Amino acid sequence: MTDDRMLWFSVALVIGTFAADAATPMGVAVPVLYLLPVVLGLWSQSRNHAVQVAGVATILTVLGAILSPPNGDIALGVTNRVLALLAVGATAAGVTHTRRVSESLRRTTATLGETQYALDQSALVCATDLEGTLVHVNDRFCERAGYARDELLGRNQRLLNSGTHAASFFAELWATVQSGKSWRGEICNRAKDGTLYWLDTTIVPLCDQHGKPRRYLAIRHDVTARRCAEARLREQAALARLGEMAAVVAHEVKNPLTGISGALQIIGERLPPDSRDRKIVADIRARIASLNDSVCDLLLYARPRAPNRTAVDVQAVLRETASLVSQDPTMKAVTVEVAGDHSVLSADPAMLREVFLNLVLNAGQAMNGQGCVRVEARDRGSRCEVAVIDRGPGIPADLRDRVFEPFFTTRSRGTGLGLAIVRRTVEVHGGEITLGETSGGGTTMMVVLPTLG
Ligand SMILES: Nc1ncnc2c1ncn2[C@@H]1O[C@H](COP(=O)(O)OP(=O)(O)OP(=O)(O)O)[C@@H](O)[C@H]1O
Ligand SMILES: [Mg+2]
Repeated sequence: MTDDRMLWFSVALVIGTFAADAATPMGVAVPVLYLLPVVLGLWSQSRNHAVQVAGVATILTVLGAILSPPNGDIALGVTNRVLALLAVGATAAGVTHTRRVSESLRRTTATLGETQYALDQSALVCATDLEGTLVHVNDRFCERAGYARDELLGRNQRLLNSGTHAASFFAELWATVQSGKSWRGEICNRAKDGTLYWLDTTIVPLCDQHGKPRRYLAIRHDVTARRCAEARLREQAALARLGEMAAVVAHEVKNPLTGISGALQIIGERLPPDSRDRKIVADIRARIASLNDSVCDLLLYARPRAPNRTAVDVQAVLRETASLVSQDPTMKAVTVEVAGDHSVLSADPAMLREVFLNLVLNAGQAMNGQGCVRVEARDRGSRCEVAVIDRGPGIPADLRDRVFEPFFTTRSRGTGLGLAIVRRTVEVHGGEITLGETSGGGTTMMVVLPTLG
């Protein structure tokens, strides 16, 4: 019987017994005694209270019936009241019990609701049926995936597959959960905008009474930032290894190069002034000098020096960069447009020039050596934003995370060190570099650096 029904039943019972006792000469005392257990049943948490009060009320009303028998019939009066009060007591006890059960149910529901709220705040939660069709997704899940709830519900979760994992990875996952065991691991998903993100995932099979899964519940946490940090550490380790290698190469190559160049100079000077070989020797020496420069560059890149900071006007650095680019024979058909605000930074001007030179050269190369690269500086108070914008083909979504990795290149003659060095130099200066889109196609590289003010 539900709580409400129990209440109405006890109220009817009280009215009934009250009417049955109306003829008795006990005044208001009897109805009050009948009412007491029921009221207690409704308000007290303890079933015992209602039963005890019903017991006391029974004794009192029975005593009353003995002392003042209704219509002079003691047996009838006593039976009537004992039965009525027993029923009232039982009803009151029932009501109390029902109330306690429903109270505990309410508390359990509230706890469950709070647990779900906490889970929804901290994790990405989704549930699928046995085929992997999404049947529940929470707000954080939708937000991270970049889809509206309607776009996800009813779709297979393969929609979010990034193609990063081998088929055997998912085969092992499904085998585990289908056997009724939970699976834990990290999965890379693809958001609606094409970006990849990593989720620490626990998939729990929810089983029926026979232990067979009827649904899968996945609780996930975004670990993209941690994985990026790990990747950065690996990159730094790779760069450090390169540094060691470069130091050895530089040591082994530089000194012989100087010796060869010196020897060639002596040979060249011994040649008659009108000898055609003089030009050849000079040519060889120029190539050796350029080789020496490359070795020094590699050493400089791989073993970065600490910045030698001075107050630098960002516009001055950008204009110097533009003039360096104009001297590059491969950039003859590229114009560099420098615009925006003057910001004063505490930075190493040579290192900053190198940063922007790399970015502008990349932009020019992306446009096949012709077109306009726009460089815009914006003063934002405590920081300065410099955007290097080109109208090239842009960077495909799946390569966006990789372009900053050392040795990643799509150019046949690139080393793939440019952006890795740029990022490290920017970070050494307390700034950051991000990759944006140029509306209408192309790439925007955004460098943010702290200003002096
Ligand atoms: N503005 C851009 N537009 C399109 N792709 C770009 C752009 N900038 C960089 N990239 C991509 O990022 C890759 C890595 O660039 P990065 O400067 O690190 O190396 P690289 O230019 O290939 O070689 P190098 O070490 O000689 O600079 C490039 O090969 C190219 O695929
Ligand atoms: Mg480059």
